[in-house]
Amino acid sequence: MKKTIIKGTGRYVPPRLVTNDDLSLWMDTTNEWILQRTGIEQRYWIPEAGGVGASDLGFEASKIAMGLAGWEPEDIDLIIFATLSPDLFFPGSGCLLAHKLGLTSTPALDIRQQCTGFLYGMTTADAYIRSSLAKRVLLVCAEVHSTGLDISTRGRDVTVIFGDGAAAVCLERMETDVQAGVLASCLHADGSLAESLMTLAPTSRENPRLDEKMLQEGKHFPTMDGRSIFKNAVRRLPEVAGEVLKKAGVPLAAVDLFIPHQANLRINQAFAKALDLPESKVYNNIQRYGNTTAASIPLALDEAIEKGLVGPDSTVMFLGLGAGVTWGAVLYRFAAKNSEE
Ligand code: UT7
Repeated sequence: MKKTIIKGTGRYVPPRLVTNDDLSLWMDTTNEWILQRTGIEQRYWIPEAGGVGASDLGFEASKIAMGLAGWEPEDIDLIIFATLSPDLFFPGSGCLLAHKLGLTSTPALDIRQQCTGFLYGMTTADAYIRSSLAKRVLLVCAEVHSTGLDISTRGRDVTVIFGDGAAAVCLERMETDVQAGVLASCLHADGSLAESLMTLAPTSRENPRLDEKMLQEGKHFPTMDGRSIFKNAVRRLPEVAGEVLKKAGVPLAAVDLFIPHQANLRINQAFAKALDLPESKVYNNIQRYGNTTAASIPLALDEAIEKGLVGPDSTVMFLGLGAGVTWGAVLYRFAAKNSEE
């Protein structure tokens, strides 16, 4: 049977370190508030002058992942690029990344699933691979939030949580009858809650799409009903974890590590508590990166692999909830070390 396995991962964050104390110079906030409400200690942002897009961060992460996978750009059958902060309104960042990789005709698909971009991307890649439409898919998740955040006190509830960053995953077909690769995935969306986390402008609903008044009102900055998103996450994450385990026929105890989206440390602690999991089974790195949206799960995966927390034979669950709202989970089992291709 055809299975989708991870051949290589890579991460990249820009070098500008922004601490909570730095933020408190620009807006009415404190290190204590941010730490206590979110767990975040620092994040990385692109240079203040700009000039770096999601595809640039994604390119750096892709080179590392492809190096580990032993892939050349020509080996890629499909690029999937997940971001809510694309370089341009259009064309997609996947096209820009393909060009940076020196590719001239490889298909590139952008997906706009925000915090669940990795989950939707992984599921799409798995469908392409298992249906033989592709053998190798490069999944890139990258965000440049910092150029779109309100760093005045007006935006403090949103701005303090977001960080820039990227991660890439090389996904490849493996022929095997053992239980390995993507075991099951569950994806959901409820657009009735779209307004709980969104950026209103530029918008094709208005003519012009962005004007001086909208800029003054900060319509180009994200707004969030943090409490609503928080409550939804705390309800939906345990629910979708149970759903994906049932679909795969795998017991909870068989999961070695849960890698949730990094939106708020308290959400992930509530998730652990709901499923009665020791905190050591739930990976968190939001303390160091903030919320990097689409990039957060693969960025955490890359670190977990590097630390030896997951590897051959381990079972891992990726899950998250965010803007849309969208939520979902993917259950993945690493192939055994000596598995044949
Ligand atoms: O990945 C995308 C999905 N997003 C999420 O999952 C985010 C989920 N939500 C959250 O993480 C939390 O709701 C936040 C961290 C965004 C906010 O935490 P909270 O505990 O829900 O705070 P709150 O919004 O209820 O605000 C409490 C107080 C308010 O003041 P008053 O009205 O009680 O006087 C806010 O104005 O904290 C104030 N506040 C701040 N104070 C200092 C809001 N932001 C800040 C800030 N610094 N940065």
